[in-house]
Amino acid sequence: MAIIEYAKLKETDILTVSEIHKQELKIGVLSLFGSPFLSQMYLSLLNRGNWGFVAKVKGETVGYIFATQTEISLLKCLSIQSIIYFLLNSVSNPLRFVSFLIAFKESYLNNSNDKIIPIKTMIELSHFAVKEDWKSKRIGENLIEILEAKAKERGFSSVFTRTHNERLSSYYIKSRKAKVLKRLPTASYVSLVLKWKI
Ligand SMILES: CC(C)(COP(=O)(O)OP(=O)(O)OC[C@H]1O[C@@H](n2cnc3c(N)ncnc32)[C@H](O)[C@@H]1OP(=O)(O)O)[C@@H](O)C(=O)NCCC(=O)NCCS
Repeated sequence: MAIIEYAKLKETDILTVSEIHKQELKIGVLSLFGSPFLSQMYLSLLNRGNWGFVAKVKGETVGYIFATQTEISLLKCLSIQSIIYFLLNSVSNPLRFVSFLIAFKESYLNNSNDKIIPIKTMIELSHFAVKEDWKSKRIGENLIEILEAKAKERGFSSVFTRTHNERLSSYYIKSRKAKVLKRLPTASYVSLVLKWKI
């Protein structure tokens, strides 16, 4: 059996992590902007004191998890190249474009009352993926446990996350007694916002 090592996510991991994000989170709106945008986003997140962990097999990154405690401006991560990538992608993926518009409305235009307002004791599990060939081997579960331990160490008492993955939502509800805070329908899927105590 392969030896899986878990380590802090460093700047040098960003390129691979962005590729995994683009590949495994295709359904999400951020992937519409391409890898350079994702790399800039992870770099900005790290620079603002956010953190994550990677899972590696023989030096190859096969999965990662990321926690956001300080938000960044995604607009500042955009370049001309990522906007062109987004426009081309939207033309060939109209459903995802509609999902983008819905997510944009949710994040930027809604009443503040409708938003999930992070409180000081709650941290966001914001990005999480494992490469296809390595899925369902409990790597994800280990990454969640490592994130929870680190969050606890930093004084957080609960985690919230948003996911389109129904199987994963059921897993959080069953294993963590997570509560569903909100349902967010988009054009092609429904995301759930969940919260649990650590
Ligand atoms: C979700 C994901 C990160 C889990 O990592 P993993 O190493 O495959 O997960 P594990 O083997 O540790 O299993 C933990 C839970 O993840 C979910 N999961 C596992 N394999 C999965 C797969 N192939 N597809 C979807 N969800 C999966 C299950 O809920 C599982 O718990 P269960 O088996 O008790 O139902 C991974 O499957 C993945 O990258 N999926 C696509 C991206 C995604 O949905 N990310 C979630 C954030 S939006």
